[in-house]
Amino acid sequence: MPEASAIRLYATRRFTPAVEQAMDARYQVTRNWADTAMTSDALAQAAQGCEYLMVSLTEKVTAEVIARLAPTLKVICTLSVGVEHLDLAAAKQAGVKVLNTPDVLSEATAEIAMMLILGAARRAAEGGRMIRDDTWYGFTPTGMLGQQLTGRRLGILGLGRIGKEVAKRAAPFGLKLHYHNRRPLPAEEAMGTTYHETSDSLLAVSDIFCITAPSTPELKSFLNAERIARLPKDAIVINVARGDMVDDDALIEALQSKRLFAAGLDVFRGEPDIDPRYRTLDNLFAVPHLGSGTVETRDAMGFVLLDGLQAIERGETPHNQLV
Ligand code: GLV
Repeated sequence: MPEASAIRLYATRRFTPAVEQAMDARYQVTRNWADTAMTSDALAQAAQGCEYLMVSLTEKVTAEVIARLAPTLKVICTLSVGVEHLDLAAAKQAGVKVLNTPDVLSEATAEIAMMLILGAARRAAEGGRMIRDDTWYGFTPTGMLGQQLTGRRLGILGLGRIGKEVAKRAAPFGLKLHYHNRRPLPAEEAMGTTYHETSDSLLAVSDIFCITAPSTPELKSFLNAERIARLPKDAIVINVARGDMVDDDALIEALQSKRLFAAGLDVFRGEPDIDPRYRTLDNLFAVPHLGSGTVETRDAMGFVLLDGLQAIERGETPHNQLV
């Protein structure tokens, strides 16, 4: 490996000023100034000759990209905790290390989950539209009634790093906490939540069902029509994980028919080209993948990657090295 100052790093996106400054000070950086999502082919061409590759979740780093960059590539860094856009097996086989950004984004993402829970339960999208469109008919004793959180049951699919931060924030709102993981957490980590051995059992008690588990092949289209049917009537669905864990047809139908009271979504299948029917739903409170989107968190994500690279240069294995 060359001296740090001679290492070539290719950055597919712009990062926060503090992160770019540190990156530029340490490495020979080439970046995609256009800051648009790159196709795999464009990425493989643009990043030729780099030792480090810094991507975000918008770039697919396939086995082919890795093979094309393998002669020089040493480390792939992704500014995300999710890694489904990277071929980890191919990286491992090529001897390329992969770093991601666990922990540092859990609190910001949990804040967005709470915003979505509140916004969906209290009809914030619909109410906001009334203000903007000047269609507010004034206060009425029975108008725009939502669901109060106090005493409702929040079912968390995936009580991991992000799920636990959601649970911490949800408890003071009076929500009763339930979760499903493959295995129960030790009592000291479970924060008084109720464990469900199966996701079906969790669905059955979830007045609010919140997806925080990572997107794995087994969880693709997890929330389908059959599982939505297991939720209590008038349940609320929240997704801060990945859009491909939800069957859009099933969710949209359940929102249109009012089988579900509302949904709060931060993530969408095929984003930003989302199913256009989502735009027509009054009972959808949606934001465009804002989970980790604060300056503090995006700085922390960038630095956990840069610190990881420095650890590798010292011959250590950083805590966020996946392969
Ligand atoms: C965001 O969605 C991430 O995976 O970091």
